[in-house]
Amino acid sequence: MSQPPLLILYGSQTGTAQDTAQRIARQAKRKRLQVQVLPLDNYNMANLISESLVVFVCATTGQGDPPDNMKNFWRFLFRKSLPLGSLSRLDCAVLGLGDSSYPKFNFVAKKLHKRLLQLGASALLPAGLADDQHDLGSDAVIDPWLTSFWEKVLTLYSSLADVTPLREDEPLPPTYTFHFLDDVKEETGDRLRITTDQTVPSQSHPFPARLVSNRRVTHPSHFQDVRHIELDITGSSIQFAAGDVVMMYPRNAPEDVEQFCQLLRLDPEGMFTLRPTDNTAVPARLPQPCSVRHLVESYLDIGAVPRRSFFEMLSTFSDNELEQEKLVEFGSVAGQSELHSYCNRPRRTALEVLADFPHTTAQLKVDYLLDLFPEIQPRSFSIASSLQAHPHRLQILVAVVRYKTKIHKPRRGLCSTWLASLDPAQGEVYVPLWVKKGSLKFPKDRDTPVIMVGPGTGVAPFRSAIQERIAEGKTANVLFFGCRSESRDFYFRSEWEELMMAGHLTLFTAFSRDQEDKVYVQHRVKENAELLWDLIANKSACFYIAGNAKQMPASVSDALKEAFQQEGGMSADEAEQMFEAMERAGQIQSETWS
Ligand code: 2AM
Repeated sequence: MSQPPLLILYGSQTGTAQDTAQRIARQAKRKRLQVQVLPLDNYNMANLISESLVVFVCATTGQGDPPDNMKNFWRFLFRKSLPLGSLSRLDCAVLGLGDSSYPKFNFVAKKLHKRLLQLGASALLPAGLADDQHDLGSDAVIDPWLTSFWEKVLTLYSSLADVTPLREDEPLPPTYTFHFLDDVKEETGDRLRITTDQTVPSQSHPFPARLVSNRRVTHPSHFQDVRHIELDITGSSIQFAAGDVVMMYPRNAPEDVEQFCQLLRLDPEGMFTLRPTDNTAVPARLPQPCSVRHLVESYLDIGAVPRRSFFEMLSTFSDNELEQEKLVEFGSVAGQSELHSYCNRPRRTALEVLADFPHTTAQLKVDYLLDLFPEIQPRSFSIASSLQAHPHRLQILVAVVRYKTKIHKPRRGLCSTWLASLDPAQGEVYVPLWVKKGSLKFPKDRDTPVIMVGPGTGVAPFRSAIQERIAEGKTANVLFFGCRSESRDFYFRSEWEELMMAGHLTLFTAFSRDQEDKVYVQHRVKENAELLWDLIANKSACFYIAGNAKQMPASVSDALKEAFQQEGGMSADEAEQMFEAMERAGQIQSETWS
């Protein structure tokens, strides 16, 4: 059979499936196959009936859900009207990325595989089910699966066997070439960089929201910097309800951008246009022409811990023997435990790796930047305000992420550090964002009470809910808030006090470090068992948990079950059953993040 073009479609939430898809594409290019890589939702599904060879690389997120960039595809694929034999020309292979510590392990890949076969496609091999929990990482499944995949492709398309593949140590052609332009100046102002048409803002068309304020809400002496950030969404068609989530693209710090440009000997002011070397589209987020500074600041994820493929590729540019030897090792299967100690454990960034391999870095060709560095991924935050209380505004609560590893320089979270650095007094600052439906849903009925447990920044969605509910005349609001100390990190205190005075809120606080023994929200839940039982058993109250403390949701759930036993006269089993029934009915909901 003649050589087919290979189509690789992916559904990726954090970028791993995208990276894997690109890795498969590089292998295909070495075999001199024509290849196209696309997120599933950017592919016109109607064309699938005429494809002959497609690899699907799909992550499973949260509770067995498909990633955002394959949600439309997912709906399309399960339409009842799709004729069963419609994909009979298609040879496919499904590779799933999942985590066996979550309940529905690789659910998306398994379901996709089944559905493709049902529609008449032939599977080249069983679905690969990679597991993040595997000691050697997901590559432990992916590598042998890929070997087997290529064997099948070779058997099926025998003409491929006659093609001389590109050597492993030769760099592949880049996906794009850079064409530098003289006499072109960058258009100034973020507004111009991002489209501002009237479509609903989305990942490919974020809305540039103006920063109104950025206020630290923890005492200056407190260990943690938490910011209350307000953004102006006037002029956008953005709507949101309590429980919804805002997504945004962060930027690299200016000093990191400078260092990167110095290491690669790039002029940050240089203006270029991108030309694809194959049929890949130019990323919608990059204006054409674009400055090197904008590319590095807003697009290339130079602050992330690099993946194995980064070393694999970097090694092909090196003409320094020592550096090359090390890079080849880090890119190989055998070098993975050493790579883990060098990179993953200390959370070393790609920029720091470049500085460790200066000879190779100086050899890097600009054309390869988009192949080497993944795209900065959007970050999500629970919205902390309501449009009814703050029209045209969107507020969030952000804990600035900082931690130590064995590297001296403290590690910082890209998005929270960037947000904290923004200062509206320094001129107009814009944050590219869009809004997504969240998982928390609040009762429509006016008289249903809500009980919310949100320690730390977990209070964010509840502030939105309380504002929204009060605006709608729903005043049965009970909030459990926990923080370390009444004087240092009790944010929104005066707001809560006002609402309590007005009779719109009942608040219970747990200040964990204001006394010798730790007091947590779950202790307050237990102390108030009688009230909670009355609200739940007699008034059908809904119960919510949000936050990032690891054990907190489980401990709060246990406290509630104990309340059921104590006040409802139930056995442990009965309390458990009642809790599970409430969860199924949406009467107990939680949203947790790390
Ligand atoms: P700690 O830091 O003193 O342990 C917000 O972060 C609040 O959540 C803090 O008071 C923090 O207390 C508390 N917290 C930490 N772990 C928790 C847990 N497992 N359950 C409930 N609250 C917790």
